Amino acid sequence: MKVGIFFGSSTGNTESAVEKLVDLMNENGFTAESHNVASISTDDFDNYETMIFATSTWNDGELQDDFDSIYRDFEKYDFSGKKIGFVGLGDQEGYSENFLDGIGTLYNACKGAEFFGFWPTAGYDYDASTAVVDGKFVGLALDADNQDEMTDERIEKWVAQIKKELGA
Ligand SMILES: Cc1cc2nc3c(=O)[nH]c(=O)nc-3n(C[C@H](O)[C@H](O)[C@H](O)COP(=O)(O)O)c2cc1C
Repeated sequence: MKVGIFFGSSTGNTESAVEKLVDLMNENGFTAESHNVASISTDDFDNYETMIFATSTWNDGELQDDFDSIYRDFEKYDFSGKKIGFVGLGDQEGYSENFLDGIGTLYNACKGAEFFGFWPTAGYDYDASTAVVDGKFVGLALDADNQDEMTDERIEKWVAQIKKELGA
C-alpha cells in the first residue's frame, strides 16, 4: 500500500521521527514515501489515496512554519476519498496549554477524509490540546523534549496499529 508522508520540521525532531516511520512502514508491507512540505504543493496529494501529515507545533499552538503556505490551500483541496493519519511532535511540559495543536489544526482542515491512527492520551501530562477528539489524539503523539526514550516504541506500536486498521 502506497502512503505519502508529508512533514514539516524546524529543528529536525519531526524529520527524524518520519525517517524512522518510513523505514518501519516499509518493513511492514507499506510503500511509504516522505515529502518535506517546504518544497511541495497540494497537487502532490493527488498521487496518494493514503496520506500521513506530520508536524510539530510552535508559538503557542501554531503549525510548523513550512506548513503555512500549503495550509492555505487545504481549504480548496478535495480530501474526500482519502485516508489520512497524523503524527504530532510537541512539548507537553513547556507548552501544556497547546500540546500538539498543530495536528489538531490539520485534522480540522482535512474535510471529508476518512481518518486512521487515533492514539490514546494515557501516558501524557498536559492541560489542553486541540489534537484530542472524542478522548483520543487524532494521531501518533510524540514528545522528543520530555519523553524521547519512548519515541521508538511509540512509532513501532503505531505502525502495528495502522497496519491493522488499513489492512496493509
Ligand atoms: C518557541 C517554541 C514554541 C513551541 N510551541 C509549542 C506549542 O505550542 N505546543 C507544543 O506542543 N510544542 C511546542 N513547542 C515544542 C516543539 O514542537 C518541539 O520541540 C518539537 O519536537 C519540535 O519539532 P521540529 O524540530 O520537528 O520542529 C515549542 C518549541 C519552541 C522552541
